[in-house]
Amino acid sequence: MTQAETAEGRRDSIFSVMTGSDKVNSAIYDRGRIRLCHGDFLDVVKGMDSDSIDMVFTDPPYGLTGGGMKSGKLVYPDNGVFGSCGFDTGSIAFDAWIPEVYRVMKNDRYFYVMSNDRNLFSIHDVCTDSGFKFCELLVMDKKMTVPSVYYPKKAEFILMYRKGKCRKTRFTGATVMGAALPRGKEKRHPTEKPVSVISHLIRCSTFENELCLDPFMGSCPAGEACIMTGRRFIGSEIEQEWYAVSRDRIPGLLQTGKE
Ligand SMILES: C[S@@+](CC[C@H](N)C(=O)[O-])C[C@H]1O[C@@H](n2cnc3c(N)ncnc32)[C@H](O)[C@@H]1O
Repeated sequence: MTQAETAEGRRDSIFSVMTGSDKVNSAIYDRGRIRLCHGDFLDVVKGMDSDSIDMVFTDPPYGLTGGGMKSGKLVYPDNGVFGSCGFDTGSIAFDAWIPEVYRVMKNDRYFYVMSNDRNLFSIHDVCTDSGFKFCELLVMDKKMTVPSVYYPKKAEFILMYRKGKCRKTRFTGATVMGAALPRGKEKRHPTEKPVSVISHLIRCSTFENELCLDPFMGSCPAGEACIMTGRRFIGSEIEQEWYAVSRDRIPGLLQTGKE
């Protein structure tokens, strides 16, 4: 455990948003602009003030309903192909965490949530029931195809919502974004997302020094994107393995990033 990491939730530093609860989580890495929490988001969020976050980007866990490929064959979740994906894909219901995201976000701010095709509609229903207004459906072209019963899948989706009114920031680019997924030695997490896409969304939706949250940070590409764009970041991750990957990723970046 480093000097900046504490065994209990802390209530200091620039992250005044985390003042509501003493029971935050089991470990926090807190350095400058970045706070990483090891714990269940539903516990972490209890310590966060309402109306305090400028943007949320997340790639949440969800139960997979489609198949995947194993040894060149299509297999389905019951056959266990996703059993080794590194986390419990069905662990947290959309209606448990999306209303909490709504609560902690400031008004007139943007929420981005990634989804596959099968979960788009459930996520959308919970978002609108929670009070979010739908803005855009963005498409991430993964530059690779995954076999499917129907058409080979080449896209992942990013649903964009706002809380409150539309905020004038600076939207550039188009609704389809190309970005290869991390592969080989670059890949730290089974479902790792490209920093370039997250950085783009952050630049388009926030201003420097604003505060972004990723409730399900995995290997922390959103934290890296915040460092690269001069934003502050809070992330939570329930699995020790991915929390440790995130914690190891940040220090070197803080030296080179825009502090
Ligand atoms: C789809 S992955 C995110 C991957 C991440 N975008 C990346 O690029 O590395 C979802 C993550 O949420 C974590 N998770 C699942 N339930 C959680 C919970 N209740 N609180 C916090 N993290 C959770 C999983 O362990 C997993 O690492």
